[in-house]
Amino acid sequence: MASPQPHPHPSAPTEPDAPATAAAAVAIGPGLESGGVSALAATAAAMAAAIGAAAGGGEAPAADHARTEQLLDDLLRVIDQYGRTLEQWRELEARYLQQIREKDEQIQRKTRLEELGAMAAGVAHEIRNPLGGIQLWASLLERDQEGSANVRRIAAKIGDAARHLNHVVQELLDFTHVPRPVFEPCSPAALARDAAALLAAEIAQRGARVRVEGDDTLSLRADPAMLRQVLLNLVSNAVQHSPAGGRVLVRLRREETPTPVCVLEVSDEGEGVPAEIRSQVFYPFFSRRPGGTGLGLAIVSRIVTAHAGAVTVGDAPGRGALFTVRLPWR
Ligand SMILES: Nc1ncnc2c1ncn2[C@@H]1O[C@H](COP(=O)(O)OP(=O)(O)OP(=O)(O)O)[C@@H](O)[C@H]1O
Ligand SMILES: [Mg+2]
Repeated sequence: MASPQPHPHPSAPTEPDAPATAAAAVAIGPGLESGGVSALAATAAAMAAAIGAAAGGGEAPAADHARTEQLLDDLLRVIDQYGRTLEQWRELEARYLQQIREKDEQIQRKTRLEELGAMAAGVAHEIRNPLGGIQLWASLLERDQEGSANVRRIAAKIGDAARHLNHVVQELLDFTHVPRPVFEPCSPAALARDAAALLAAEIAQRGARVRVEGDDTLSLRADPAMLRQVLLNLVSNAVQHSPAGGRVLVRLRREETPTPVCVLEVSDEGEGVPAEIRSQVFYPFFSRRPGGTGLGLAIVSRIVTAHAGAVTVGDAPGRGALFTVRLPWR
């Protein structure tokens, strides 16, 4: 955003005979106190009136000229200050609007996840029993030495498919449990390093590099096992979507505004997440990865929500995806 050029004569109001209006302009300061913008506008209007009075007053021409110059100087300072205040106000407004949008999306996602969770729990429960039966009959057929080899091979395939389905149902049931974090002090940077160590084989296989940037001594109250799971899912996704030799960066920082927040960023150098699917990637079973179940980010979202935080996806600088988790610093 472009900012107005400062006026080249900023020292004028400090002189002893500076007009009261200029002193008022200095007192307002660069902050955004309530009424700051309107106070500046009122000051500018008062100074413009004073300039008019000075120009039309009966003073000697030289003094008259100097006073007009002085007032003009002060007026430009006030206008400059007004511009900067307005710019700060716009930045603040844009930040708040973004936060409102994110919160709104978060609430919609939470509601939809709860509905999906309830439905999934019911369906999973219904599927489980017949699935157990299929597995049992398939294993009996597989072991039946009197049957043909072909039937035994087919029975083995049915058994494999049933086991896979059982695994999906189990994951679904796990997912439907609402996470209840047990808060204790933990180091997000150390947990990120833990997650990277647990993924060492996957990272090596991909030829990717994972780097954690963050202060290990920064401590946060969160559920360490859950936070590790968040990082595991995000780093694992980043590695899976990295090109060979691509770098995955985990960055941790503390932000103070408006209340302290722990910001965890995971970025990669892959293709990124296309804008049109960004709202869907956090829903269960949304997957565009061959072999993916589509539960990783749904779990991340649930855990982050249980910590009263938010997770968003965007573009990494240059190329790739950037996932940002924001957790209240407690
Ligand atoms: N870093 C990333 N870069 C590009 N796309 C991503 C990235 N992370 C996630 N995605 C997209 O979001 C989808 C959902 O991710 P999610 O982790 O929930 O599921 P998954 O990785 O497909 O399967 P699972 O994690 O259950 O094994 C992915 O299939 C992929 O399309
Ligand atoms: Mg995943």
